Amino acid sequence: MGSILKYIDLKFVFPARIKRLKNKLFPHVKGCKNVLDLGSSDGRLTKAISEEVKDTKFIGVDVVVQPETFIPIEKYDGGRIPFKKNYFDCVMLIDVLHHDEEIDEVIKEAKRVSKKYILIKDHYWSNWFDFKILQMADYIGNKLFGVRLPYNFLRMEQWKKIFKSNKLKILDEEKYRDGAFSLIKHVIFKLEV
Ligand SMILES: C[S@@+](CC[C@H](N)C(=O)[O-])C[C@H]1O[C@@H](n2cnc3c(N)ncnc32)[C@H](O)[C@@H]1O
Repeated sequence: MGSILKYIDLKFVFPARIKRLKNKLFPHVKGCKNVLDLGSSDGRLTKAISEEVKDTKFIGVDVVVQPETFIPIEKYDGGRIPFKKNYFDCVMLIDVLHHDEEIDEVIKEAKRVSKKYILIKDHYWSNWFDFKILQMADYIGNKLFGVRLPYNFLRMEQWKKIFKSNKLKILDEEKYRDGAFSLIKHVIFKLEV
C-alpha cells in the first residue's frame, strides 16, 4: 500500500503541485541574487523555479535530505542555519513551517540570514473541518518520505501575530485553493525583513 501511495505522489501529485507552485512563486524571487530554500526536501520545486529565473542562485538546507536531490542541499540540525547574517537576498519556506513546533524560532533564523525578503507558502484554517483536511493531506503527502508531522497549521491571525512580533512587513499576501472543489486552504506571504 505504501509503495503505491509513494508512486502516485511521485508520478502525479508532486509534478502537478510543482507546476502550479512554480508559476505562483518565481515572480516573487525575480531580481534576487541568491535565495535560500529552507526545507528544500529534494529541491525538485526549486529546480523548476530556478529555470524561470536564470540569474538567481539557489541553495537548499534541510533536516532530512532525500536520496536524490535536484539543487545543492546541505543537511543541518534545524537550529542555526549554516550561513552568515544577511547572506541571502531571500529565504523561501515552502510548505515547511507546519512541520515545526517552533515556527517563531525558524522565522527568526530565516530573518537573520535574509537581507531583503522571506517568502512563505503554507496553509491556514478557519474551522475544525479545514484543520482535519490539512492533517489528512499532510499525512498522505509526507509520511512515506520521513518528514516530521506535528500538524502545526496556523490560523490567519496567528500568522499575522508572528510577523508583527518579528517586525516583518507583509508586501504581498495571496490566499487560494487549487480549484473550485479543493478543500485545502493555501497562503503565500512575501515579507520584507
Ligand atoms: C513538505 S516538505 C516541502 C519541501 C519543499 N520546500 C517543497 O515545497 O517541495 C517540508 C520539508 O521541510 C523540512 N523541514 C521542516 N522543518 C525544517 C527546519 N526547521 N529546517 C529545515 N528543514 C525543515 C522537512 O524535512 C521537509 O523536507
